[in-house]
Amino acid sequence: MKETIENIRTEFLGWDLKDAAALEQFRIRFLGSKGLIKDLFGALKDVPGDQKREAGQLVNALRAEIEAYFDENKQRLESSSTKAEKLDFSRPAATRPIGSRHPLSLVRSQIIEIFSRIGYAVSEGPEIEDDWHNFTALNFPPEHPARDMQDTFFIEKGEKELALRTHTSSVQVRVMENSTPPIRTISPGRVYRNEAISARAHCFFHQVEGLYIDKDVSFADLKQTLLYFAKEMFGEKATIRMRPSYFPFTEPSAEVDVSCTICNASGCNVCKHSGWLEILGCGMVDPNVLDACGIDSKVYSGFAFGMGIERIAQLKYRVNDLRLYSENDIRFLKQFTGGF
Ligand code: PHE
Repeated sequence: MKETIENIRTEFLGWDLKDAAALEQFRIRFLGSKGLIKDLFGALKDVPGDQKREAGQLVNALRAEIEAYFDENKQRLESSSTKAEKLDFSRPAATRPIGSRHPLSLVRSQIIEIFSRIGYAVSEGPEIEDDWHNFTALNFPPEHPARDMQDTFFIEKGEKELALRTHTSSVQVRVMENSTPPIRTISPGRVYRNEAISARAHCFFHQVEGLYIDKDVSFADLKQTLLYFAKEMFGEKATIRMRPSYFPFTEPSAEVDVSCTICNASGCNVCKHSGWLEILGCGMVDPNVLDACGIDSKVYSGFAFGMGIERIAQLKYRVNDLRLYSENDIRFLKQFTGGF
């Protein structure tokens, strides 16, 4: 009996279980209902009484070994067959998530596109500015409150006092200094103001400022240009109104409202039941500014305007909290797909 058991052990260990067919042959030979293990159990009845116990244990142990060997090989073959399935070349490729443009980037592109259609070129400049480009050339009197520490982030650097630009009008000063009219330019970019961060204010935001200088540029040209912009941006039905205002660098100056696109000017929460939404500041370039930048104010006139990109995006996408634009919350950002 012992010898038979050893022979069976030697035999089963010699089997090469290379595929499912070999595995099935193995099972039939050793573990099947007419297999060798079954025969061994049958043969136990011929073993003398005093040896039965020991022989029974040996047969059981052999069966356990064969079953373990069988299971192990079965698992190995199954896992390699699923690997083969993964190599199905006809399967459609897994889709990758597609990113989206930031809403401010979308609106910025749209504003640039609208103005480029009527001949405006894009100009950019540094975010760290000197006093001349951010204030003095723009006709800010020395005591003007906008120079106050509360509004401006000043940077001390040796003799020269620098600041983070508070508007991109500084870029237009550079353009005027370096070119001759006619000038048609828009300056998109990030600007900084020393404000407490809340839903309605931030310490930085983005602007697009525009400048047009030529002979005989009038306020009517300004109004028509902004009406064109409002209709392109907010739809054919949009209208604008101008309210007198003050900026050091323009005279006369105005603030511009667009008719509320949400309620069609009939009054809602967003326009505070006025039917109008403020979108930008503008005016005729002050002759002092032209002269400071080397342009003869007796020959040339011009207009300028400036808007916050966040403000336009807020109206376009109805975003109420300014902070969302810089928090990089993926749930917010992934809503803005498509576009420019
Ligand atoms: N520079 C102004 C601001 O930042 C906007 C503006 C630009 C107003 C041009 C009038 C003319 O608020």
